Amino acid sequence: MTIDRGGVFSNALQMIGNTPMIELKRLDTGCCRLFGKLELLNPTGSIKDRIALNMILTAEEEGKLKPGQTIVEATAGNTGLGLALVAAQKGYPLLIIMPDKMSMEKEYNLTAMGAKVIRTRSDVVKGHPEYYQDLAASIAKEKGAFYINQFANPANVEAHVKTTGPEIWQQLDGKVDAFVCGVGSGGTLSGVGRYLKAQNASIEIVLADPEGSILAPLHNTGERIEPKRWLVEGIGEDFIPDICDLSLIDHAYTIPDKSAMLTARELLAKEGIMAGSSTGTLLSAALNYCHQQTEPKNVVTLLCDTGTRYLSKMYNDEWMKQQGFIE
Ligand SMILES: Cc1ncc(COP(=O)(O)O)c(C=O)c1O
Repeated sequence: MTIDRGGVFSNALQMIGNTPMIELKRLDTGCCRLFGKLELLNPTGSIKDRIALNMILTAEEEGKLKPGQTIVEATAGNTGLGLALVAAQKGYPLLIIMPDKMSMEKEYNLTAMGAKVIRTRSDVVKGHPEYYQDLAASIAKEKGAFYINQFANPANVEAHVKTTGPEIWQQLDGKVDAFVCGVGSGGTLSGVGRYLKAQNASIEIVLADPEGSILAPLHNTGERIEPKRWLVEGIGEDFIPDICDLSLIDHAYTIPDKSAMLTARELLAKEGIMAGSSTGTLLSAALNYCHQQTEPKNVVTLLCDTGTRYLSKMYNDEWMKQQGFIE
C-alpha cells in the first residue's frame, strides 16, 4: 500500500504520522529484507511527534490540562520538540527538563520553538532529586504545572497502537516477521508490539539496547545490572518505565555506542538517509537479527530521528575521534 503524503494540510499537526517506509537494499541484510520507517519525516523530525500530540489531546479530553496551563516534561529532547510544536499551536507554555549529555542542537531547537529548557545532571539515577524525571515532577508540583510524564502516560502507548502499528501493518500488507525497536519510555515497544502481536502472535519483537542500559541484560539473563553511561541519545534505561511492557520482547541485543554510530554513518553513506544515533542502535540490532536468520524474513525498524540533531557529535569526525570511534 502507498501512503499518500500529498494534498494540502491545514495545520502542521495534521502532518504528524503517516510516514513513508523504505526498503534498505544497500545494506547487507543476509537472507532477510529490512525496512525502515522514516519517523524522521515527522514535522519536528522524530517519532515523538506522535506521542506529543496524543498526550496533549488526551489530557485536554480528560480535563487534566487547563487552557493556558504550563506543560512540564522530562525528555532526551525529541519529546520536547514534539511538545513544543503542539503546545505552541494550542497556546500552552512549555518547560523542558533535559539531561546535560543531550546535544546542543536539541536545546537550540527547543528554545527557537519557544520552550524554556532547564539542563540537569546525566550522571544520577532515578530517585536522585537532580535526575531529570524527579526534577520535572518536583518543578511541576511547585509551579502548579501539568507534568505530562511520557514514562507513565498511557496516551504515549496508545499513540503507537492507533498510528505507528497500523501504518507498519498496512505498508507491508501484513507481511511482517519481526519489528526492531529501542526503549526510551517504552511507548513504541508497548504500543507497536501490542498492536503487531494482536494481528499475528508469531511476529517477533526485537529490542535494540545501548551497552550500559539495564534492559537487554535483564531480558537475556534475568539479572538487573548496574547501569553504565552510554552516548546514544533517547534510548536505553536505568529503570523500567511504568508503561514499558518487557513481556513483549522475544530477542534483545546489546549494542555498543561505536557500532551504533558507525552503522548510522553507513546508512547515510549507502542509503543517503541522515538519521540519529538511536537509529544506528536499532539498525545494528536489526542487521544482527537478519544475519542470524536461516530463512527469509521481513524485518521492520524505525529511522527514529533526524541526524541534523547530531552534527556536532556523530557526524563530526573530530568528536568521533575523541570518542575513539574512528581513527
Ligand atoms: C531518539 C529516540 N527516542 C526514543 C525512542 C524510543 O521511544 P520510546 O520512548 O517510545 O521508548 C527512540 C527509538 O525508538 C528514539 O530513536
